[in-house]
Amino acid sequence: MSTEFSTPRPGGTGRPDAVSVVAEPGTAPDAITADALVVFLAEGGVGGGAAAAVDTATGGLLSRLAAAGEITGKRYECVPLLAPGGLRAGQVVVAGIGKREEFDAGVAFKAAATAARQLAGRPRSRVAFVAESGWTPRQVEQAVAGSMAGMVGQDLYRAEKKRTRFGSTVWLGAPADVVARGCLIGEGVNLARRLVNMAPDDLYPQSFADEAAAVAGRTGLQIEIWDEDRLARERCQAMLAVGRGSSRPPRLVILRYRGPGAAGERPDVALVGKGVTFDSGGLSLKPSDSMLTMKCDMAGAAAMIAAAATLAALDAPIHLVAAVGLVENMTGPAAYKLGDVITARSGTTIEIHNTDAEGRVVLADVLDVVRGLAPRRIVDAATLTGACMVALGHDVAGLFTNEQAWCDEIAAAARTVGEQVWQLPMYPDYDDQIKSEVADIKNVGDGRWGGAITAAKFLERFVGGIPWTHVDIAGPAFAEKPRPWIDGGGTGFLVRSLVELLRG
Ligand code: BES
Ligand code: MN
Ligand code: ZN
Repeated sequence: MSTEFSTPRPGGTGRPDAVSVVAEPGTAPDAITADALVVFLAEGGVGGGAAAAVDTATGGLLSRLAAAGEITGKRYECVPLLAPGGLRAGQVVVAGIGKREEFDAGVAFKAAATAARQLAGRPRSRVAFVAESGWTPRQVEQAVAGSMAGMVGQDLYRAEKKRTRFGSTVWLGAPADVVARGCLIGEGVNLARRLVNMAPDDLYPQSFADEAAAVAGRTGLQIEIWDEDRLARERCQAMLAVGRGSSRPPRLVILRYRGPGAAGERPDVALVGKGVTFDSGGLSLKPSDSMLTMKCDMAGAAAMIAAAATLAALDAPIHLVAAVGLVENMTGPAAYKLGDVITARSGTTIEIHNTDAEGRVVLADVLDVVRGLAPRRIVDAATLTGACMVALGHDVAGLFTNEQAWCDEIAAAARTVGEQVWQLPMYPDYDDQIKSEVADIKNVGDGRWGGAITAAKFLERFVGGIPWTHVDIAGPAFAEKPRPWIDGGGTGFLVRSLVELLRG
Protein backbone atom coordinates (compact mmCIF):
# COMPACT_ATOMS: atom_id res chain seq x y z
CA MET A 1 0.00 0.00 0.00
CA SER A 2 1.31 3.40 -0.79
CA THR A 3 0.39 6.87 0.32
CA GLU A 4 1.32 9.84 -1.77
CA PHE A 5 2.00 13.35 -0.59
CA SER A 6 2.16 15.82 -3.34
CA THR A 7 3.85 19.02 -2.54
CA PRO A 8 3.88 22.02 -2.71
CA ARG A 9 2.81 22.59 0.79
CA PRO A 10 4.64 25.07 2.94
CA GLY A 11 7.57 25.80 0.78
CA GLY A 12 6.24 24.39 -2.38
CA THR A 13 7.59 26.26 -5.29
CA GLY A 14 4.15 26.24 -6.83
CA ARG A 15 5.80 25.15 -10.05
CA PRO A 16 4.88 22.08 -12.04
CA ASP A 17 8.20 20.42 -11.19
CA ALA A 18 7.02 20.08 -7.60
CA VAL A 19 7.88 16.63 -6.31
CA SER A 20 5.85 13.77 -5.06
CA VAL A 21 6.90 11.66 -2.13
CA VAL A 22 5.36 8.26 -1.56
CA ALA A 23 5.47 5.99 1.48
CA GLU A 24 5.46 2.25 0.86
CA PRO A 25 6.06 0.92 4.35
CA GLY A 26 5.46 -2.73 3.45
CA THR A 27 7.44 -3.11 0.23
CA ALA A 28 10.74 -5.04 0.41
CA PRO A 29 13.88 -3.52 -1.12
CA ASP A 30 14.19 -6.31 -3.70
CA ALA A 31 10.56 -5.91 -4.78
CA ILE A 32 10.60 -2.22 -5.62
CA THR A 33 10.83 -1.04 -9.20
CA ALA A 34 12.84 2.16 -9.38
CA ASP A 35 15.66 3.88 -11.23
CA ALA A 36 17.68 3.73 -8.05
CA LEU A 37 17.43 2.24 -4.59
CA VAL A 38 19.25 3.96 -1.71
CA VAL A 39 20.28 1.82 1.27
CA PHE A 40 22.14 3.12 4.29
CA LEU A 41 25.18 1.37 5.65
CA ALA A 42 27.09 1.85 8.90
CA GLU A 43 30.79 1.17 9.28
CA GLY A 44 31.81 -2.37 10.11
CA GLY A 45 30.14 -4.55 7.50
CA VAL A 46 26.74 -5.22 6.05
CA GLY A 47 24.99 -5.86 9.35
CA GLY A 48 21.34 -6.83 9.58
CA GLY A 49 19.27 -4.03 8.04
CA ALA A 50 18.19 -3.14 4.54
CA ALA A 51 21.76 -3.51 3.32
CA ALA A 52 21.68 -7.14 4.40
CA ALA A 53 18.41 -7.71 2.54
CA VAL A 54 19.94 -6.21 -0.59
CA ASP A 55 23.06 -8.27 -0.03
CA THR A 56 21.03 -11.48 0.09
CA ALA A 57 18.96 -10.54 -2.96
CA THR A 58 22.12 -9.81 -4.95
CA GLY A 59 23.89 -13.00 -3.97
CA GLY A 60 26.32 -11.35 -1.58
CA LEU A 61 27.37 -8.38 -3.75
CA LEU A 62 27.50 -5.87 -0.88
CA SER A 63 29.42 -8.09 1.50
CA ARG A 64 31.97 -8.91 -1.21
CA LEU A 65 32.50 -5.21 -1.93
CA ALA A 66 32.67 -4.42 1.79
CA ALA A 67 35.26 -7.15 2.33
CA ALA A 68 37.29 -5.75 -0.58
CA GLY A 69 37.13 -2.29 1.01
CA GLU A 70 35.17 -0.79 -1.90
CA ILE A 71 32.30 0.11 0.41
CA THR A 72 33.16 1.30 3.91
CA GLY A 73 29.99 2.83 5.35
CA LYS A 74 31.95 5.96 6.24
CA ARG A 75 29.84 9.05 6.64
CA TYR A 76 28.50 10.48 3.40
CA GLU A 77 30.30 7.97 1.19
CA CYS A 78 27.89 7.15 -1.65
CA VAL A 79 28.75 4.18 -3.85
CA PRO A 80 26.53 3.44 -6.86
CA LEU A 81 26.30 -0.20 -7.93
CA LEU A 82 24.87 -0.27 -11.44
CA ALA A 83 22.54 -2.92 -12.81
CA PRO A 84 22.79 -5.35 -9.90
CA GLY A 85 21.26 -8.78 -10.41
CA GLY A 86 18.42 -9.93 -8.18
CA LEU A 87 16.80 -6.48 -7.81
CA ARG A 88 14.16 -4.57 -9.71
CA ALA A 89 16.04 -1.29 -9.28
CA GLY A 90 18.40 -0.03 -11.96
CA GLN A 91 21.08 0.71 -9.39
CA VAL A 92 21.74 0.57 -5.69
CA VAL A 93 23.35 3.52 -3.96
CA VAL A 94 25.03 2.52 -0.71
CA ALA A 95 25.03 5.61 1.49
CA GLY A 96 27.43 5.64 4.43
CA ILE A 97 26.22 6.77 7.84
CA GLY A 98 29.46 6.30 9.81
CA LYS A 99 29.71 4.69 13.19
CA ARG A 100 26.48 3.04 14.26
CA GLU A 101 26.68 4.47 17.78
CA GLU A 102 27.15 8.01 16.47
CA PHE A 103 24.15 7.90 14.16
CA ASP A 104 21.56 10.58 14.84
CA ALA A 105 18.90 12.60 13.02
CA GLY A 106 21.47 15.07 11.74
CA VAL A 107 23.46 12.27 10.12
CA ALA A 108 20.22 10.86 8.70
CA PHE A 109 19.46 14.23 7.09
CA LYS A 110 22.91 14.62 5.61
CA ALA A 111 23.32 11.01 4.42
CA ALA A 112 19.96 11.02 2.63
CA ALA A 113 20.71 14.47 1.22
CA THR A 114 24.07 13.29 -0.09
CA ALA A 115 22.54 10.34 -1.92
CA ALA A 116 19.71 12.47 -3.30
CA ARG A 117 22.10 15.19 -4.41
CA GLN A 118 24.23 12.68 -6.27
CA LEU A 119 21.26 11.00 -7.94
CA ALA A 120 19.64 14.31 -8.86
CA GLY A 121 22.62 15.06 -11.11
CA ARG A 122 20.49 13.71 -13.92
CA PRO A 123 16.74 13.21 -14.32
CA ARG A 124 15.30 10.13 -12.58
CA SER A 125 11.65 9.28 -12.62
CA ARG A 126 11.56 7.18 -9.46
CA VAL A 127 14.04 6.83 -6.60
CA ALA A 128 13.46 4.62 -3.57
CA PHE A 129 15.08 5.07 -0.14
CA VAL A 130 15.00 2.45 2.57
CA ALA A 131 14.56 3.63 6.16
CA GLU A 132 16.10 1.26 8.68
CA SER A 133 13.62 -0.38 11.05
CA GLY A 134 15.64 0.76 14.07
CA TRP A 135 15.38 4.45 13.24
CA THR A 136 13.30 6.71 15.45
CA PRO A 137 10.47 8.70 13.84
CA ARG A 138 12.65 11.83 14.17
CA GLN A 139 15.48 10.15 12.33
CA VAL A 140 13.14 9.02 9.54
CA GLU A 141 11.65 12.52 9.26
CA GLN A 142 15.05 14.10 8.99
CA ALA A 143 16.17 11.57 6.39
CA VAL A 144 13.07 12.31 4.31
CA ALA A 145 13.71 16.04 4.69
CA GLY A 146 17.32 15.48 3.64
CA SER A 147 16.25 13.58 0.53
CA MET A 148 14.18 16.61 -0.45
CA ALA A 149 16.94 19.14 0.24
CA GLY A 150 19.53 17.10 -1.64
CA MET A 151 17.70 17.02 -4.92
CA VAL A 152 17.32 20.79 -5.05
CA GLY A 153 20.35 22.81 -6.01
CA GLN A 154 21.24 26.34 -6.95
CA ASP A 155 19.53 26.30 -10.31
CA LEU A 156 17.27 29.34 -10.02
CA TYR A 157 19.17 31.20 -12.70
CA ARG A 158 20.58 28.38 -14.84
CA ALA A 159 19.11 27.39 -18.20
CA GLU A 160 20.63 23.95 -17.91
CA LYS A 161 19.78 22.66 -14.46
CA LYS A 162 22.44 20.82 -12.50
CA ARG A 163 19.87 19.00 -10.37
CA THR A 164 16.49 17.59 -11.29
CA ARG A 165 13.93 16.62 -8.68
CA PHE A 166 12.97 12.96 -8.94
CA GLY A 167 9.63 12.36 -10.58
CA SER A 168 8.74 10.52 -7.41
CA THR A 169 10.56 9.59 -4.23
CA VAL A 170 9.51 6.40 -2.51
CA TRP A 171 10.31 5.67 1.14
CA LEU A 172 10.28 2.03 2.15
CA GLY A 173 10.13 0.88 5.74
CA ALA A 174 8.73 4.15 7.05
CA PRO A 175 5.21 4.97 8.27
CA ALA A 176 3.22 7.21 5.95
CA ASP A 177 2.58 9.94 8.53
CA VAL A 178 6.26 10.21 9.38
CA VAL A 179 7.19 10.43 5.71
CA ALA A 180 4.54 13.12 5.23
CA ARG A 181 5.99 15.23 8.05
CA GLY A 182 9.53 14.80 6.78
CA CYS A 183 8.33 15.95 3.40
CA LEU A 184 6.86 19.15 4.87
CA ILE A 185 10.04 19.84 6.80
CA GLY A 186 12.12 19.33 3.66
CA GLU A 187 9.93 21.74 1.74
CA GLY A 188 10.36 24.29 4.53
CA VAL A 189 14.14 24.00 4.32
CA ASN A 190 13.97 24.39 0.55
CA LEU A 191 11.77 27.47 0.85
CA ALA A 192 14.33 29.20 3.06
CA ARG A 193 17.11 28.17 0.69
CA ARG A 194 15.29 29.48 -2.36
CA LEU A 195 14.71 32.89 -0.75
CA VAL A 196 18.38 33.16 0.21
CA ASN A 197 19.50 32.07 -3.25
CA MET A 198 17.42 34.68 -5.05
CA ALA A 199 19.52 37.49 -6.47
CA PRO A 200 19.33 40.68 -4.39
CA ASP A 201 17.89 42.61 -7.30
CA ASP A 202 14.99 40.14 -7.39
CA LEU A 203 14.49 39.80 -3.66
CA TYR A 204 14.21 43.22 -2.02
CA PRO A 205 11.91 44.32 0.80
CA GLN A 206 8.69 44.56 -1.24
CA SER A 207 9.31 41.41 -3.28
CA PHE A 208 10.25 39.51 -0.11
CA ALA A 209 6.97 40.68 1.42
CA ASP A 210 5.18 39.42 -1.72
CA GLU A 211 6.85 36.04 -1.30
CA ALA A 212 5.76 35.97 2.33
CA ALA A 213 2.20 36.79 1.26
CA ALA A 214 2.25 33.91 -1.22
CA VAL A 215 3.47 31.54 1.49
CA ALA A 216 0.80 32.84 3.87
CA GLY A 217 -1.86 32.27 1.22
CA ARG A 218 -0.77 28.65 0.73
CA THR A 219 -0.57 27.81 4.42
CA GLY A 220 -3.38 29.87 5.90
CA LEU A 221 -1.19 32.19 7.96
CA GLN A 222 -2.48 35.69 8.65
CA ILE A 223 -0.21 38.34 7.24
CA GLU A 224 0.27 42.04 7.82
CA ILE A 225 2.73 44.10 5.77
CA TRP A 226 3.84 47.50 7.03
CA ASP A 227 5.02 49.85 4.28
CA GLU A 228 7.16 52.94 4.87
CA ASP A 229 4.15 55.12 5.80
CA ARG A 230 2.97 52.65 8.38
CA LEU A 231 6.53 52.25 9.67
CA ALA A 232 6.73 56.02 10.11
CA ARG A 233 3.40 56.10 11.94
CA GLU A 234 4.66 53.30 14.17
CA ARG A 235 7.85 55.28 14.94
CA CYS A 236 10.09 52.59 13.44
CA GLN A 237 12.83 55.17 12.85
CA ALA A 238 15.62 52.64 13.25
CA MET A 239 14.39 50.48 10.39
CA LEU A 240 13.68 53.55 8.29
CA ALA A 241 17.16 54.96 8.96
CA VAL A 242 18.90 51.83 7.70
CA GLY A 243 16.65 51.80 4.63
CA ARG A 244 17.22 55.43 3.68
CA GLY A 245 20.23 54.74 1.46
CA SER A 246 18.18 52.50 -0.80
CA SER A 247 15.66 53.17 -3.54
CA ARG A 248 13.71 50.22 -2.15
CA PRO A 249 11.87 51.21 1.04
CA PRO A 250 11.74 48.88 4.06
CA ARG A 251 8.88 46.55 4.95
CA LEU A 252 7.91 44.82 8.15
CA VAL A 253 6.07 41.53 7.71
CA ILE A 254 4.08 40.04 10.57
CA LEU A 255 2.69 36.52 10.26
CA ARG A 256 0.35 34.98 12.77
CA TYR A 257 -0.58 31.36 13.24
CA ARG A 258 -2.98 29.90 15.78
CA GLY A 259 -2.82 26.14 15.88
CA PRO A 260 -5.46 23.80 17.28
CA GLY A 261 -6.05 24.48 20.96
CA ALA A 262 -4.01 27.70 20.92
CA ALA A 263 -6.75 29.86 22.35
CA GLY A 264 -5.00 32.53 24.40
CA GLU A 265 -4.50 36.10 23.27
CA ARG A 266 -0.77 36.04 24.04
CA PRO A 267 1.39 34.31 21.46
CA ASP A 268 3.35 31.36 22.89
CA VAL A 269 6.36 32.45 20.93
CA ALA A 270 7.53 35.21 18.62
CA LEU A 271 9.96 34.44 15.82
CA VAL A 272 12.00 37.45 14.76
CA GLY A 273 14.22 37.53 11.67
CA LYS A 274 16.84 39.87 10.25
CA GLY A 275 15.85 40.52 6.66
CA VAL A 276 18.55 42.71 5.18
CA THR A 277 17.96 41.79 1.54
CA PHE A 278 21.36 43.16 0.63
CA ASP A 279 24.06 44.49 2.93
CA SER A 280 26.52 46.73 1.11
CA GLY A 281 27.66 48.01 4.50
CA GLY A 282 26.17 51.41 3.72
CA LEU A 283 28.60 54.33 3.97
CA SER A 284 30.86 52.06 6.03
CA LEU A 285 31.10 50.22 2.74
CA LYS A 286 32.19 46.60 2.69
CA PRO A 287 35.11 45.57 0.49
CA SER A 288 33.97 43.61 -2.60
CA ASP A 289 35.06 40.24 -1.22
CA SER A 290 32.88 40.56 1.87
CA MET A 291 29.99 42.12 -0.05
CA LEU A 292 29.78 39.36 -2.61
CA THR A 293 27.60 37.03 -0.55
CA MET A 294 25.52 39.67 1.22
CA LYS A 295 22.31 38.61 -0.46
CA CYS A 296 22.38 36.04 2.35
CA ASP A 297 21.77 38.74 4.97
CA MET A 298 18.04 37.96 5.00
CA ALA A 299 18.58 34.30 5.94
CA GLY A 300 17.19 34.86 9.44
CA ALA A 301 13.97 36.25 7.99
CA ALA A 302 13.78 33.39 5.49
CA ALA A 303 14.24 30.81 8.25
CA MET A 304 11.48 32.35 10.36
CA ILE A 305 8.96 32.52 7.52
CA ALA A 306 9.78 28.98 6.44
CA ALA A 307 9.52 27.69 10.01
CA ALA A 308 6.16 29.42 10.55
CA ALA A 309 4.83 28.02 7.28
CA THR A 310 6.03 24.52 8.10
CA LEU A 311 4.51 24.62 11.60
CA ALA A 312 1.22 25.72 10.07
CA ALA A 313 1.39 22.91 7.51
CA LEU A 314 2.05 20.47 10.37
CA ASP A 315 -0.96 21.84 12.30
CA ALA A 316 1.28 22.42 15.30
CA PRO A 317 -0.74 23.22 18.44
CA ILE A 318 0.82 26.60 19.09
CA HIS A 319 0.06 30.30 18.83
CA LEU A 320 2.95 32.05 17.14
CA VAL A 321 3.83 35.31 15.50
CA ALA A 322 6.74 35.79 13.15
CA ALA A 323 8.05 39.28 12.43
CA VAL A 324 10.75 40.06 9.91
CA GLY A 325 12.39 43.42 9.25
CA LEU A 326 13.11 43.80 5.53
CA VAL A 327 15.62 46.48 4.56
CA GLU A 328 18.26 47.06 1.90
CA ASN A 329 21.44 48.62 3.33
CA MET A 330 22.79 50.92 0.63
CA THR A 331 24.75 54.12 0.11
CA GLY A 332 22.23 56.36 -1.67
CA PRO A 333 22.17 60.14 -1.14
CA ALA A 334 19.86 59.92 1.87
CA ALA A 335 21.84 57.12 3.53
CA TYR A 336 22.14 57.16 7.30
CA LYS A 337 25.50 58.41 8.49
CA LEU A 338 28.14 57.86 11.12
CA GLY A 339 27.37 60.09 14.05
CA ASP A 340 23.65 60.06 13.37
CA VAL A 341 21.51 59.58 16.44
CA ILE A 342 18.34 57.60 15.82
CA THR A 343 15.40 57.27 18.17
CA ALA A 344 14.28 53.67 17.94
CA ARG A 345 10.61 52.75 18.35
CA SER A 346 11.19 51.93 22.02
CA GLY A 347 12.48 55.47 22.65
CA THR A 348 16.07 54.31 23.12
CA THR A 349 18.49 56.53 21.21
CA ILE A 350 21.21 54.91 19.11
CA GLU A 351 24.41 56.59 18.01
CA ILE A 352 25.63 55.18 14.70
CA HIS A 353 29.34 54.39 14.70
CA ASN A 354 29.29 52.03 11.75
CA THR A 355 26.53 51.73 9.16
CA ASP A 356 27.61 48.13 8.53
CA ALA A 357 26.33 47.18 11.99
CA GLU A 358 22.83 47.61 10.54
CA GLY A 359 21.21 44.32 11.50
CA ARG A 360 20.97 45.17 15.17
CA VAL A 361 19.50 48.58 14.31
CA VAL A 362 16.80 46.96 12.19
CA LEU A 363 16.07 44.35 14.85
CA ALA A 364 15.77 47.05 17.53
CA ASP A 365 12.43 48.08 16.01
CA VAL A 366 11.25 44.60 15.08
CA LEU A 367 11.90 43.36 18.62
CA ASP A 368 10.02 46.34 20.03
CA VAL A 369 6.99 45.66 17.80
CA VAL A 370 7.02 42.04 18.91
CA ARG A 371 7.44 43.02 22.57
CA GLY A 372 4.20 44.97 22.22
CA LEU A 373 2.40 41.74 21.29
CA ALA A 374 3.40 40.26 24.67
CA PRO A 375 4.66 36.86 23.51
CA ARG A 376 5.72 34.44 26.24
CA ARG A 377 9.10 33.95 24.59
CA ILE A 378 11.11 35.41 21.73
CA VAL A 379 13.69 33.79 19.48
CA ASP A 380 15.47 35.75 16.80
CA ALA A 381 17.66 34.55 13.96
CA ALA A 382 20.11 36.87 12.27
CA THR A 383 23.21 36.78 10.10
CA LEU A 384 24.40 39.36 12.56
CA THR A 385 28.18 39.34 12.89
CA GLY A 386 31.34 38.21 11.18
CA ALA A 387 32.68 37.99 14.73
CA CYS A 388 30.44 35.00 15.40
CA MET A 389 32.12 33.21 12.50
CA VAL A 390 35.54 34.12 13.89
CA ALA A 391 34.46 32.50 17.16
CA LEU A 392 32.62 29.42 15.90
CA GLY A 393 33.49 28.89 12.24
CA HIS A 394 31.20 28.28 9.30
CA ASP A 395 29.03 25.47 10.59
CA VAL A 396 28.01 26.45 14.11
CA ALA A 397 25.52 29.14 15.14
CA GLY A 398 25.96 31.26 18.28
CA LEU A 399 23.32 31.33 20.99
CA PHE A 400 22.81 34.28 23.35
CA THR A 401 20.08 34.58 25.92
CA ASN A 402 18.59 36.43 28.85
CA GLU A 403 16.92 33.24 30.12
CA GLN A 404 18.90 30.03 30.34
CA ALA A 405 15.94 27.62 30.30
CA TRP A 406 14.67 28.99 26.99
CA CYS A 407 18.13 28.81 25.47
CA ASP A 408 18.48 25.21 26.68
CA GLU A 409 15.23 24.26 24.96
CA ILE A 410 16.47 25.68 21.68
CA ALA A 411 19.83 23.95 22.02
CA ALA A 412 18.07 20.64 22.75
CA ALA A 413 15.84 20.97 19.68
CA ALA A 414 18.88 21.76 17.54
CA ARG A 415 20.67 18.72 18.91
CA THR A 416 17.66 16.51 18.14
CA VAL A 417 17.74 17.40 14.46
CA GLY A 418 21.52 17.70 14.15
CA GLU A 419 22.00 21.44 13.64
CA GLN A 420 25.07 22.71 15.48
CA VAL A 421 24.80 25.58 17.97
CA TRP A 422 26.97 26.83 20.82
CA GLN A 423 26.16 29.32 23.55
CA LEU A 424 28.28 32.39 24.21
CA PRO A 425 28.22 34.38 27.47
CA MET A 426 26.22 37.51 28.21
CA TYR A 427 28.09 38.87 31.27
CA PRO A 428 26.89 42.33 32.32
CA ASP A 429 30.44 43.67 31.79
CA TYR A 430 29.85 43.61 28.05
CA ASP A 431 27.12 46.25 28.45
CA ASP A 432 29.79 48.88 29.07
CA GLN A 433 31.03 48.40 25.53
CA ILE A 434 27.88 49.75 23.91
CA LYS A 435 27.63 52.87 26.07
CA SER A 436 27.63 56.04 23.98
CA GLU A 437 28.98 59.52 24.76
CA VAL A 438 26.00 61.19 23.14
CA ALA A 439 23.11 58.71 23.09
CA ASP A 440 21.72 55.83 25.16
CA ILE A 441 23.76 53.26 23.23
CA LYS A 442 25.99 53.00 20.18
CA ASN A 443 25.68 50.38 17.49
CA VAL A 444 29.14 48.81 17.87
CA GLY A 445 31.31 47.70 20.78
CA ASP A 446 34.79 49.02 21.57
CA GLY A 447 36.98 47.51 18.91
CA ARG A 448 36.18 44.10 17.49
CA TRP A 449 36.72 41.92 20.55
CA GLY A 450 33.64 40.00 21.56
CA GLY A 451 31.79 41.48 18.59
CA ALA A 452 29.13 38.77 18.45
CA ILE A 453 28.35 39.32 22.12
CA THR A 454 28.20 43.11 22.05
CA ALA A 455 25.76 42.77 19.13
CA ALA A 456 23.61 40.44 21.24
CA LYS A 457 23.86 42.85 24.16
CA PHE A 458 22.50 45.58 21.89
CA LEU A 459 19.50 43.41 20.95
CA GLU A 460 18.84 42.58 24.59
CA ARG A 461 17.99 46.24 25.19
CA PHE A 462 14.87 45.88 23.07
CA VAL A 463 13.22 42.71 24.37
CA GLY A 464 11.78 44.30 27.49
CA GLY A 465 12.72 41.44 29.79
CA ILE A 466 10.74 38.81 27.89
CA PRO A 467 12.59 35.47 27.81
CA TRP A 468 14.62 35.74 24.62
CA THR A 469 17.29 33.85 22.73
CA HIS A 470 19.26 35.26 19.82
CA VAL A 471 20.73 32.89 17.25
CA ASP A 472 23.59 34.34 15.18
CA ILE A 473 23.50 32.28 11.98
CA ALA A 474 26.11 34.30 10.03
CA GLY A 475 28.24 31.16 9.54
CA PRO A 476 25.86 28.27 8.87
CA ALA A 477 23.15 30.14 6.90
CA PHE A 478 25.17 30.22 3.73
CA ALA A 479 27.59 27.70 2.22
CA GLU A 480 30.15 29.41 0.04
CA LYS A 481 31.22 26.06 -1.39
CA PRO A 482 29.17 22.94 -2.05
CA ARG A 483 29.31 20.16 0.52
CA PRO A 484 28.55 16.49 -0.11
CA TRP A 485 24.98 16.95 1.16
CA ILE A 486 24.13 20.35 -0.23
CA ASP A 487 24.93 22.63 -3.10
CA GLY A 488 26.52 25.96 -2.23
CA GLY A 489 24.28 28.86 -1.28
CA GLY A 490 21.48 29.07 1.28
CA THR A 491 21.33 26.11 3.65
CA GLY A 492 17.97 26.65 5.34
CA PHE A 493 19.78 26.55 8.67
CA LEU A 494 17.57 26.71 11.78
CA VAL A 495 14.30 25.79 10.02
CA ARG A 496 14.55 22.20 11.24
CA SER A 497 15.47 23.22 14.78
CA LEU A 498 12.62 25.72 15.03
CA VAL A 499 10.12 23.19 13.76
CA GLU A 500 11.41 20.66 16.29
CA LEU A 501 11.26 23.28 19.05
CA LEU A 502 7.69 24.38 18.41
CA ARG A 503 5.88 21.39 16.96
CA GLY A 504 4.49 20.49 20.39
N1 BES B 1 25.66 41.00 7.72
C1 BES B 1 26.86 41.27 8.41
C2 BES B 1 27.42 40.05 9.15
C3 BES B 1 27.85 38.89 8.30
C4 BES B 1 29.17 38.73 7.96
C5 BES B 1 26.94 37.92 7.91
C6 BES B 1 29.57 37.65 7.19
C7 BES B 1 27.33 36.84 7.13
C8 BES B 1 28.65 36.70 6.79
C9 BES B 1 26.62 42.38 9.42
O1 BES B 1 25.67 43.31 9.08
C10 BES B 1 27.91 43.11 9.58
O2 BES B 1 28.35 43.67 8.62
N2 BES B 1 28.47 43.08 10.78
C11 BES B 1 29.70 43.74 11.03
C12 BES B 1 29.57 44.44 12.36
C13 BES B 1 30.71 45.37 12.66
C14 BES B 1 30.69 46.55 11.72
C15 BES B 1 30.58 45.83 14.08
C16 BES B 1 30.79 42.68 11.07
O3 BES B 1 30.53 41.58 11.55
O4 BES B 1 31.87 42.95 10.58
MN1 MN C 1 26.42 44.87 7.88
ZN1 ZN D 1 24.22 42.68 7.80
